[in-house]
Amino acid sequence: MKQINEMKLQIPGKSANESFARAALSAFAAQLDPTIDELADIKTAVSEAVTNCIVHGYRDEIGPVYIHAKLYEDNTLTIKIRDKGCGIPDIKQAMEPLFTTCTTGERAGLGFAVMQSFMDKVRVTSKPGKGTCVVLTKKLLSKGAGNA
Ligand SMILES: Nc1ncnc2c1ncn2[C@@H]1O[C@H](COP(=O)(O)OP(=O)(O)OP(=O)(O)O)[C@@H](O)[C@H]1O
Ligand SMILES: [Mg+2]
Repeated sequence: MKQINEMKLQIPGKSANESFARAALSAFAAQLDPTIDELADIKTAVSEAVTNCIVHGYRDEIGPVYIHAKLYEDNTLTIKIRDKGCGIPDIKQAMEPLFTTCTTGERAGLGFAVMQSFMDKVRVTSKPGKGTCVVLTKKLLSKGAGNA
């Protein structure tokens, strides 16, 4: 499938940048003329993935979060969100609804479940000690102005 546009973003994993990442992705996706629901879905999924990099990937440190979004001519949007943090030892277990390694009770263990319900596809790769990469894919129903 032909790629029609892309954008790359690198931000320090600070919580202030979570809303920035969400807004940036929303602005990028806007060229496809998405519905309000589609935009809300994308923003929520991006928030969850970026928050995971900040909270789990880097824990008490601040490290870089890399975002690479691509638009394809069939209105498919892919968003790659990557950190160089601690990594995930068991991805299958991490993606199970309600699984969390958070012990303070602040987290529900639903981030991946939310990403999966709001996007068409969620692919996770990770290496303990090296980092984690999440690729979110969604085909938008909108007619798309992306060729302009
Ligand atoms: N980028 C990451 N780096 C390291 N571990 C991660 C990363 N993303 C997720 N995990 C692990 O996967 C688990 C499940 O993630 P998920 O987002 O589903 O739930 P949560 O973050 O614990 O809770 P919630 O998202 O509901 O606040 C996390 O508790 C964490 O152990
Ligand atoms: Mg989470």
